[in-house]
Amino acid sequence: MAHAAHAADTQPDTPQSRADALLARMSLEEKVGQLHTIDASGPDPVGRLGGEIKAGRIGAVINQVDPDTLYELQRIAVEESRLGVPLLVSRDVIHGFNTIFPLPIGQACSWSPELVRDCARAAAGEAAASGVRWTFAPMVDIARDARWGRIAESLGEDPYLASVLGAAMVVGFQGDGLSRPGTLAACVKHFAGYGACEGGRDYDATNIPDNELRNTYLPPFRAALKAGAASVMTSFSDIDGVPATGNPYLLGEILRGEWSFDGVVVSDWDAIGQLITHGLSADMAAAARAAAEAGVDMDMMSSAFIDQLPRLVHEGVVTVDRIDAMARRVLLLKATLGLLDDPYGAAHRSAAPARQATLDLARRAARESMVLLKNDAGALPLDLAGIGRLAVIGPMADQPYEQLGTWVFDGDQTRSVTPLGALRGALGEHRVAFAPGLETTRSRDRSGFAAAQAAARSSDVVLVCLGEEAILSGEAHCRADITLPGAQLALLDALKAEGKPVIAVIMAGRPLTLAAVLERVDALIYAWHPGNMAGPALVDIVSGAANPSGRLPVSFPRSVGQIPIHYNRKNTGRPPQAERILYIDEIQVGAPQTSFGMSAFHLDDGYTPQFPFGFGLSYTRFIYADLVVSAGEIARGETLDVMVTVTNSGERFGTETVQLYLRDPTASLTRPVRELKGFQKVALNAGERRTVRFTLGEGDLAFSGRERRFRAEAGRFDVWVGGDSTADLHASFTLRD
Ligand code: NOJ
Repeated sequence: MAHAAHAADTQPDTPQSRADALLARMSLEEKVGQLHTIDASGPDPVGRLGGEIKAGRIGAVINQVDPDTLYELQRIAVEESRLGVPLLVSRDVIHGFNTIFPLPIGQACSWSPELVRDCARAAAGEAAASGVRWTFAPMVDIARDARWGRIAESLGEDPYLASVLGAAMVVGFQGDGLSRPGTLAACVKHFAGYGACEGGRDYDATNIPDNELRNTYLPPFRAALKAGAASVMTSFSDIDGVPATGNPYLLGEILRGEWSFDGVVVSDWDAIGQLITHGLSADMAAAARAAAEAGVDMDMMSSAFIDQLPRLVHEGVVTVDRIDAMARRVLLLKATLGLLDDPYGAAHRSAAPARQATLDLARRAARESMVLLKNDAGALPLDLAGIGRLAVIGPMADQPYEQLGTWVFDGDQTRSVTPLGALRGALGEHRVAFAPGLETTRSRDRSGFAAAQAAARSSDVVLVCLGEEAILSGEAHCRADITLPGAQLALLDALKAEGKPVIAVIMAGRPLTLAAVLERVDALIYAWHPGNMAGPALVDIVSGAANPSGRLPVSFPRSVGQIPIHYNRKNTGRPPQAERILYIDEIQVGAPQTSFGMSAFHLDDGYTPQFPFGFGLSYTRFIYADLVVSAGEIARGETLDVMVTVTNSGERFGTETVQLYLRDPTASLTRPVRELKGFQKVALNAGERRTVRFTLGEGDLAFSGRERRFRAEAGRFDVWVGGDSTADLHASFTLRD
């Protein structure tokens, strides 16, 4: 202790030396106080928490953003606690703060790390201006189950895409350094495997073999940490029998050991206390010990640390060294954020991003998150100037709040422009016939159908906004049936009966099963929950002012029974060949067992998804040709180039996402049939052609093998390049030892 104080006096004033100097002056109780994160929402937070803050028993608060309340809580910490250590103010800033951008799954459709970074940066600027300095994002849990409500908050099913975009989000939140105005400390979550919950039920157990953990679930965490993420949140879930929050293999061996992560690890909400409910720990003392020993630094909400750790130290069960390391990480984060010098965030208040620029960004992000899934006979784009009247129908057409999606605590719905509002603006009130048809997406009351049909009858085209309200996805909001809820399909039938072209826009927090919808519409735009600027972005797309460029970050199942379905599957010993769905209608009673082949498929749904990973239509066409690899063989340490020619063979400007997939067909552990290893967005004028080049090195070929080390294995590799995960232009090369 004396040594640390001395060091602080003589060394330059670094965040480390300041954290050490503070630590040296702290009592055990004050150190443990830094590890305690508490909810500051609800009535009278100052009255409720003031005494504890003054006593140095609270390190961070969550869920309070009122500037006066935050000021007062911080003032007590700074002026009335013995050492004046400021509080860390945390909040779930997930896809915007006051201005809401598309859901993370929607942003992922942009396949644009720059856009994702910019949205995070703008969100950070708004949040920091309100006093928040720590966000619980990005969520990089691989999500392969559309029933799971939190797929909305994910970056999809693919480790590579989630790595690139998760890292971009970290860079956006944290900027050029956490002491800079308008930044938030990122917290990558939920470590690890949370998305693999059984049955798509939130919080349910996960069973993830090590090969799958290391090759599928962990890479996005590693990428986010390499991008500098300041903190990690543990998962609620039980993984292979050991809940993540008390899991020494995950937190100790991998995160702290193999990856040398020395930032803050925070539990999820009450997850330490829940170690008892899981059946890992007998009581709070055992839970606190298990979490601390596994590698958790901060306790969010269970109070296990604040109540139990001092005694556990006195009893010699937990060491003071361990508590010091935990508290030092928290103090270092506070010092790095500049909180010791500017606890009230004065520098951040003046750095709030300009409202109009943020809304413009939200519009662009919403536009780039929309995926065109069907467009028969050029139903889109619409000639808005030429149309007499447009019928705008549907329970999601004019919902300023619902279009924001989940996780919008601080979202300002007065900034929302709905599809109805934007279309009225574009066409003029008198050229829009509006009737919602259904009050909510879940409504079964058909009394509004007649008005919707009348609107369709008096119009040239029908644009119908369907989907799910915000509350149907997100944390703890999972669905077993992922078809359109309520009487929405019946509404589509009623509209179709009017004989006008029907354009469907679906706003939802998850992939829905769409077969029945697709049969009933001429065009379908999947918009997710697009945020405040849903309406203007939709007008950009339907009018053709912007050409749709969104691509799916997740496979869309045909039916819930196909789940889990993802493109990067294993080949199996009996891979399916040509796709045929609905074999079940053809198969004769008494037919031999081998009638339809013996392979890995469903009799009633085949084996391919409704829409594959990477898919998305455009108003133009892109043609791929001349796939060339620069070398048939490379040695370790060498690279090779993969080149392909992409031509915009249609009539309008468009942006294509060129995707490169790789396969290691024979390895010591079986590898997926394809893995995304690169992508590039190319903007091409009508008729324009470009050669796109990817460079592959040994690292791109590597995977975590039997020895749990990332290493490429010598042999042949297959490569495909194209516009989605079913790309068929193929080449191969060999890695030699
Ligand atoms: C629980 C969620 O799982 C987590 O993602 C979130 O950050 C915390 N609650 C705090 O709200």
